[in-house]
Amino acid sequence: MNNKTFTVKYYIARTKGTSVKWQRGRKTGCLPMWIADMDFKGDERVIEALQDFIVQGDYGYANLPEDYYDVFTNWHKRRNDVVYKNEWIRFSQGAVDGIFQVIYSLTEENDGILICTPLYPPFKATIKECKRKVYESKMINDDGYFTFDYKDIEKKLKTGKIRMMMLCSPHNPIGRVFKRGELEELFELCHRYKVLICSDEVHSDIIMPDQKFVPALSIKKYANDIITITAASKSFSLAVFKHCHVIIPNKKLRDRFIAYQRHTHVGSVNAFNALPTYYSYKYGEEWLDSLNNVVFENYEYMRDQLGKYYEMTTLEGSYLLFLNVAPHNGDKPAAKYLQEECKLLVNDGETFGKGYGSWVRINLATSLNNVKKATRALKKIVR
Ligand SMILES: Cc1ncc(COP(=O)(O)O)c(C=O)c1O
Repeated sequence: MNNKTFTVKYYIARTKGTSVKWQRGRKTGCLPMWIADMDFKGDERVIEALQDFIVQGDYGYANLPEDYYDVFTNWHKRRNDVVYKNEWIRFSQGAVDGIFQVIYSLTEENDGILICTPLYPPFKATIKECKRKVYESKMINDDGYFTFDYKDIEKKLKTGKIRMMMLCSPHNPIGRVFKRGELEELFELCHRYKVLICSDEVHSDIIMPDQKFVPALSIKKYANDIITITAASKSFSLAVFKHCHVIIPNKKLRDRFIAYQRHTHVGSVNAFNALPTYYSYKYGEEWLDSLNNVVFENYEYMRDQLGKYYEMTTLEGSYLLFLNVAPHNGDKPAAKYLQEECKLLVNDGETFGKGYGSWVRINLATSLNNVKKATRALKKIVR
């Protein structure tokens, strides 16, 4: 399906509903391009299947569909060449909930946890919430292309205080789809210093042309050290349903995780919330491929129009662009400046890492029309 057809068919005007993104847009009179969800509804077959479930009226206790695990594992095998065994898979209510449970069950109070910044803020907040210590390694920025600082990472691992590394792959907000070699080098370091890896892969379905997503667990040598968190929530905009997978091949770690879930009564899967994920993996593949093309067109448009004025990330994965507003913001906090001067709502770079106050994160999962409006506004403030 071409991008125009996709947009006509699936774009939803969310201006009047309960959307967090658009309600704030309405209140401020701004075009909302913050938060990470989409302005597109899912494939019509997914919506029909959900309607059928609702209309039937059978809302008693329910199991997952019998082929749920096959549909989920085949998706990852087919698209990313990774094999997940059914018994490795547990569930959480969303990715951040999964991160929280992984930290709580597999580390101890005051253990160090490593993150690479700039990074989606709830990672740091959750580590602190769990009373663990945050170790932050700044990524190296080469004109908007961010990479791991292995030397700095090793220096931190060498302290012996770090028990876990929280990886974000693809990485929000810098849009990187890490190469196999980059991940191997990172995992080798973690292995050497006996550090577990928790890989949040919720953006793994939004991959730009010519990029190949490498799931952490496809690097089999380190599988015993790895926990993967993955969901369809970003891929198909299902955030409201709060359904996520926590994949743990190492039996000892998995048993600890399961014991924690039993103890806290949080492990039982919500079969209703799982349905949109199930139907999306079943019927949504063509839709997703089209969506990726739409995001890429939006990215190319913004890059071509603004690239000579603004430093910005090379979008390899996710629909989130990180853009440096300096010097056009005249030393003012960039997100606030864009809200006032451009009537544009974006995420404040400073929340992703110290020193990124002139950066903003822009959500490109919307119509090209909205991207054009935002681009025009950003062009107007060029100094
Ligand atoms: C990397 C990453 N992890 C987790 C989340 C939040 O997921 P959830 O709403 O399932 O907790 C987001 C949302 O933007 C994200 O970008």
